[in-house]
Amino acid sequence: MTLTPHSTVAVIGGGTMGAGIAQVAAQAGHPVRLYDIQAGAANRAINGIATALGARVAKGKLSEADKAATVARLTAAGSLADLADADLIVEAAAEQIDVKQAIFRDLAAVCPPEAIFASNTSSISITAIASGVPHPARVVGLHFFNPAPVMKLVEVVSGLETEPAVLDSLTELALRWGKRPVRCQSTPGFIVNRVARPFYAEAWRALEEQVAPAAVIDAALRDCGGFPMGPLALTDLIGQDVNFAVTCSVFNGFWQERRFLPSLIQQELVLGKRLGRKTGQGVYRWPLDEALPFEAGQVSMLSDSVTFSGVELDDVLVQVTQGETATQVSKRLNRPVVLIDLVNDWQHAPLVVLAAAAGNAPEQTAQAIGYFQRQGKRVLQINDYPGMLVWRTVAMLANEALDALQKGVACEQDIDTAMRLGVNYPHGPLAWGAELGWQNVLRLLENLQQHYGEERYRPTSLLRQRALLETQHEH
Ligand code: NAI
Repeated sequence: MTLTPHSTVAVIGGGTMGAGIAQVAAQAGHPVRLYDIQAGAANRAINGIATALGARVAKGKLSEADKAATVARLTAAGSLADLADADLIVEAAAEQIDVKQAIFRDLAAVCPPEAIFASNTSSISITAIASGVPHPARVVGLHFFNPAPVMKLVEVVSGLETEPAVLDSLTELALRWGKRPVRCQSTPGFIVNRVARPFYAEAWRALEEQVAPAAVIDAALRDCGGFPMGPLALTDLIGQDVNFAVTCSVFNGFWQERRFLPSLIQQELVLGKRLGRKTGQGVYRWPLDEALPFEAGQVSMLSDSVTFSGVELDDVLVQVTQGETATQVSKRLNRPVVLIDLVNDWQHAPLVVLAAAAGNAPEQTAQAIGYFQRQGKRVLQINDYPGMLVWRTVAMLANEALDALQKGVACEQDIDTAMRLGVNYPHGPLAWGAELGWQNVLRLLENLQQHYGEERYRPTSLLRQRALLETQHEH
């Protein structure tokens, strides 16, 4: 089935995602039918879209005529039978396999076999949905990100039976809708929800091991790591229940793979209904205001140096973490040691995070603190923690991205694009790992694995191969 700009699009479910997807399709010029099982919900969704577009008109970002034309393309459908002439169905109903299969089975009874059945599921196997539906070759995943009209990324997900022509049609369509489609196989979490797991998991672990308060962990990832928001604040925004459910679903999807282990702290928040912004309290109290005392401050003086590769301040050795604790390095070298965390953009980062060896005299650690403060940096000290906060997170993201790549979930470029556009990471994890050096990523993870004795930090096979190739190139 070739989809044209005039193809009729049906959207099932007029909630957060369905309304957003219907808006995107109508803005791209398609006649759109919106169906919701709740009486009146489809019309409410259309009214909501009209209000959202009205706000854009008020800001001068959209003409009144374009708004009127878009709204005129949207109609509420009274039943699934009214969708018989749709060329593409995008299902965004409840996240339950029975619900999704029932919708597609009912539609299969009225729609021709060429009609494409796409599901916006974020966690259910496309193969599983398709297996209960006549003509499963036309069943495909079309995973938008919230808010759908704003977020550019769309994961086009292939199940076992999905016909390549269907994937091509949807990829072209998504491009025409102004989106950036990436292709992936139906595996738990697809690309983004799988590769992003360590971003949250490492922050929960640091909190559990009492390395630093939540606000310091978040400040490190944001102001040193260059992520748009700290992981813990982000879980508050997403909703602790939603983020925990995704983690559990990926954990169980991978047969309880230990590296996806959910956090007990997060489970407590969910059980206590501290769900984040929507309930007024999660990791933080909302609205945030004063809750994050480590908002990036004014940097009084920019550092001249572009990178930091280590310094000796009298007998104190200051270097970037390689996955050992400062105390370990200090014992090995028999001298005072201060380690600092990975900084994404040394020149502009307002913050340096450091950890001191247990045997340092206070004035030795103070020497390192003063050194960075004189470069205009704010300095936060955390407990001595192997791999620290940013480096271990980035190494784990790169390792997970390599694992997905090796297992054919998606191609290298699509994995990086998905992480930049789906969760706004400053770099794709594969490009980031290459820039940091695969040998450095490998050494950090090997040190963590040795420290904990846990499967969680095992370097994936492709990481070892890349690190080896890097060595060969250098010789
Ligand atoms: P929502 O709860 O806001 O909306 C779901 C809508 O579907 C409701 O209006 C409900 O009445 C309707 N519905 C339920 N069963 C139906 C049926 N049998 N037939 C027709 N309509 C039915 O949910 P939301 O957040 O829009 O999620 C929808 C789907 O999108 C889920 O599969 C979810 O996993 C997925 N998704 C959600 C994202 C998010 O951030 N909320 C992001 C990406 C995917």
